[in-house]
Amino acid sequence: MITLRPARPEEAQALSELCMISKAYWGYDAAFMNSCRTELTITAADFQNAQIQVAVDGGKLAGMAQLQIDGVAAELDKLYVDPDFIGAGIGRALFDWAVRQARNAGANVMSIDADPDAAGFYRRMGAVDDGMSPSGSIPGRTLPRLRITL
Ligand SMILES: CC(C)(COP(=O)(O)OP(=O)(O)OC[C@H]1O[C@@H](n2cnc3c(N)ncnc32)[C@H](O)[C@@H]1OP(=O)(O)O)[C@@H](O)C(=O)NCCC(=O)NCCS
Repeated sequence: MITLRPARPEEAQALSELCMISKAYWGYDAAFMNSCRTELTITAADFQNAQIQVAVDGGKLAGMAQLQIDGVAAELDKLYVDPDFIGAGIGRALFDWAVRQARNAGANVMSIDADPDAAGFYRRMGAVDDGMSPSGSIPGRTLPRLRITL
């Protein structure tokens, strides 16, 4: 059974690995994945500046979401599901968690810089397109930006 709970700081390395294997699900090559490593590394600062929620299946980390709230604007920074669990509803559960948290904190909008292959998922969750954003990992690459009104 899948349950959600806050991430623990000692899980930072395991969560960084989860982000990498999840991102690689879309078939990116090794060079591309290496370029993403820094951005996908969960740091101690992330635990201080953001809320990180994990989905667990028994003892196994199956997914994570990282949410940052700044006044009325929230940013869903990372939403990654282990490929073994993709398509099982974990993305929706973590997205719904982020919406609830942001709303309860007083935010009225939540934005996402999406992987192009994941943009359809966010649209399915009710988000709308909001232009393009520069990739934090690959110079010159742009990513679809989406937002959902809370
Ligand atoms: C994108 C991702 C988080 C979705 O999580 P998931 O657990 O597979 O999604 P769910 O099973 O909860 O799917 C919920 C709904 O969205 C739809 N959906 C899921 N992925 C989709 C996609 N890539 N495009 C369009 N629709 C999608 C599902 O069909 C489902 O629809 P339903 O309402 O008819 O049931 C997951 O595929 C993932 O981690 N991908 C690799 C890493 C990544 O790109 N993360 C996002 C970074 S911005």
